[in-house]
Amino acid sequence: MPEVQKRRVLFDTDPGVDDSMAILLAFASPEIEVVGLSTVFGNTGVDVTTANALRLVELAGHPEIPVAAGAAKPLLRPNTSRGDMVHGKNGLGEAEFPEPKVKPDPRRAPQLIVDTIMANPGEITLVPLGPLTNVALAVATEPRIAQNVREVVLMGGAAAVPGNVSPVAEANIHNDPEAARIVFHAGWPITMIGLDVTMKSVMSEAYLAELAAARTPFTDFIAAITRHYLDFYRSVGFTEGMPVHDSSALAYVIDPTLFTTRHAYVDVDHMSLHHPGQTVADWRGQRGEDPNVNVAIDVDAERFLDLYRQRLTGAKA
Ligand code: RIB
Ligand code: CA
Repeated sequence: MPEVQKRRVLFDTDPGVDDSMAILLAFASPEIEVVGLSTVFGNTGVDVTTANALRLVELAGHPEIPVAAGAAKPLLRPNTSRGDMVHGKNGLGEAEFPEPKVKPDPRRAPQLIVDTIMANPGEITLVPLGPLTNVALAVATEPRIAQNVREVVLMGGAAAVPGNVSPVAEANIHNDPEAARIVFHAGWPITMIGLDVTMKSVMSEAYLAELAAARTPFTDFIAAITRHYLDFYRSVGFTEGMPVHDSSALAYVIDPTLFTTRHAYVDVDHMSLHHPGQTVADWRGQRGEDPNVNVAIDVDAERFLDLYRQRLTGAKA
């Protein structure tokens, strides 16, 4: 059996219930090598997202993986995120876990991003799962990471569907529109895994019960943190279960054939007084600007959810 060529992944993340599920999918997938986690505000405060990232590397048995703390607020705006309503104040659905033993890396998040990419030219896939503040600071600090990263696969945006935190904006982009605009125009290969596809993959309560029945440390953790998350979605009328946002980005890295993508010019509206954070995709081709983003426009949700279940429970797809 030929050696699987691992994809080396650096997450920038705000764990966060769905971030945690994406990071555990990475640790459960033989194609992925997690090389680091940088943390950012978003689903809750950055001190809490950092502690949660430390809990995740400990749970995965990889305390050696660097976790570097990053931005506590957007570049220019106050932090108005209400992510804690969705993910709980502790970012883990108010489920209780012991304090992590492992300590964060002494570097700040943007420095971890720059160091990791520049030390491994062409090898690192950067997977942002939260507001893009750290990523913007990293590429502003060292623009060469745009030429040295293998690709950026981010969960964020909404190209041809409504937003979630506003009629037009998805949470990660809305939380720091200026940072998102810097990232979308930095000249690196970006794949945008937005609400266009993440809202199409839904984990039902029955599906989550199948995961929980595996009774592994990863699935026990997921069972504990998803109860509050499901309750939130039910409370806003989303009764089928929970949309799968962050794991969709990692699933693209594992198997891009799960998704249909289309290159387009995408800009981020950071100037709108009332509706900032819209990802404006120009599908006009030649009449528009040159494409800068590979936009996911469809997903084979059944195959994706089968992959997730197989990786987390070992059950045959
Ligand atoms: O809009 C969904 C995104 O916002 C996900 O990354 C979720 O974790 C929150 O950060
Ligand atoms: Ca996230």
